Amino acid sequence: MALIDIKVPDIGDFDEVTVIEILVKPGDIVKADQSLLTVESDKASMEIPSSHGGVVKELRVKLDDKVKQGSIVLVLEAEADAPAVAPVASAPTAPVAQAAAVAAPVAVASAPASPAAPVAAATPAQTMPAHEPTAATGQLPHASPSVRKFAREIGVPLAEVKGSGLKGRITQDDVQGFAKSVMAGDVRTQAQAVKAPVGSGGDGAALGLIPWPKVDFAKFGPIERKEMSRIKKISGANLLRNAIMIPAVTNHDDADITDLEAFRVSTNKENEKSGVKVTMLAFLIKACVAALKKYPEFNSSLDGDAIVYKNYWHIGFAADTPNGLMVPVIRDADQKGVLQLSQEMGELAKKARDGKLGSAEMTGATFTISSLGGIGGKYFMPIINAPEVAIMGVSKSTMEPVWDGKQFVPRLMLPLSLTWDHRVIDGAAAARFNAYLGQILGDFRRVLL
Ligand code: COA
Repeated sequence: MALIDIKVPDIGDFDEVTVIEILVKPGDIVKADQSLLTVESDKASMEIPSSHGGVVKELRVKLDDKVKQGSIVLVLEAEADAPAVAPVASAPTAPVAQAAAVAAPVAVASAPASPAAPVAAATPAQTMPAHEPTAATGQLPHASPSVRKFAREIGVPLAEVKGSGLKGRITQDDVQGFAKSVMAGDVRTQAQAVKAPVGSGGDGAALGLIPWPKVDFAKFGPIERKEMSRIKKISGANLLRNAIMIPAVTNHDDADITDLEAFRVSTNKENEKSGVKVTMLAFLIKACVAALKKYPEFNSSLDGDAIVYKNYWHIGFAADTPNGLMVPVIRDADQKGVLQLSQEMGELAKKARDGKLGSAEMTGATFTISSLGGIGGKYFMPIINAPEVAIMGVSKSTMEPVWDGKQFVPRLMLPLSLTWDHRVIDGAAAARFNAYLGQILGDFRRVLL
């Protein structure tokens, strides 16, 4: 067996290149043409192959060294009968080509592989479950051609892998580590992201958050574990998505409902025998429809780069049920009077509590009202019910001293909390919406205007 020097072959137009990755170590058995190092110029990266097969005896370069054609890379104990090959550096991978690779990642399979499956041995189509992209770094990933090839083969999008190599370069270990964390659920799959509420383990990694605390509560006292209801699981996943994906802002305001409440109470007295109780929420629905007509962006949805304005006013209202929160929808609320709205609301709320609400009765809302007024509290931040772009939270009205210009007078004030999607709506519009709603609730005759 002969000891031979493996040298940098012809690397084209480049005088000097930097060693950015060493792919072998002393004792490794390499084949002729196997990549030994990755080098990089200011324009491209390429791999330096071995001219012979054999055992690596000694490395003659280290990371960050500058090498050129003829530089000795390592000493190899060549196989006696192994023929030499004419070494040719791999085709350079230019930054432009890297960008294309990022823009068109290999499609990932939807069926997750067994977590126990060894990453390197799995076939491309079976290797990676679809996963939630991690936060983009805004930079192109740096990786050698062999690492890119490996990532492509196992379906790992390099743009999401954090590099641990020199200057953040992505190594084969980084790709393997990323693949393992997807398999183990540390990086959540897209399906898991919408199904699993925060707190169910492994969450937050996809967003770069520290892991959810795992506590053995039984260590501190007696506990009881209960599965969440189906409704809670579904609404939790929707709320999580909406809270994360919508840049939401909440504007708080007060409406003077002294006269409206007096009217409501007297109407209910007059209609005692009818069996229909007029609720504050029915007035709120009517008032919100008037505000939605004046400010149509609140009755819209986002569709890509377009805003879809709806010329119908279906109002959802949050109903507290033994199984969790449900949102029945009153259709064409603009065409209904307060009595009819009160009656429909009562029927839908009962159906919701009895678990008899059909799916058609929970879809198509253009705006939602969440009223905690019957329970208590002062202001809260409701979460928008996507694909709607705004929601009105209503708290308990209280008698308050209000300055009328000359003196403080007792007025019944209703706290309003309007959450809106800042991609569609601006703060000024939200303030106007609340102010207009307050005017209507203060003097309901304005609904007629
Ligand atoms: N301020 C003060 N009192 C209010 C009020 C308000 N904003 N809104 C209602 N009330 C009073 C009513 O006058 C009524 O009192 P009364 O029994 O003396 O007449 C009582 O609270 C109950 O009101 P009611 O008319 O039965 O119901 P509602 O219209 O307030 O609400 C639902 C109906 C379905 C919305 C309600 O039952 C519900 O489920 N609310 C919870 C919604 C929720 O969980 N939202 C949070 C989502 S995160």
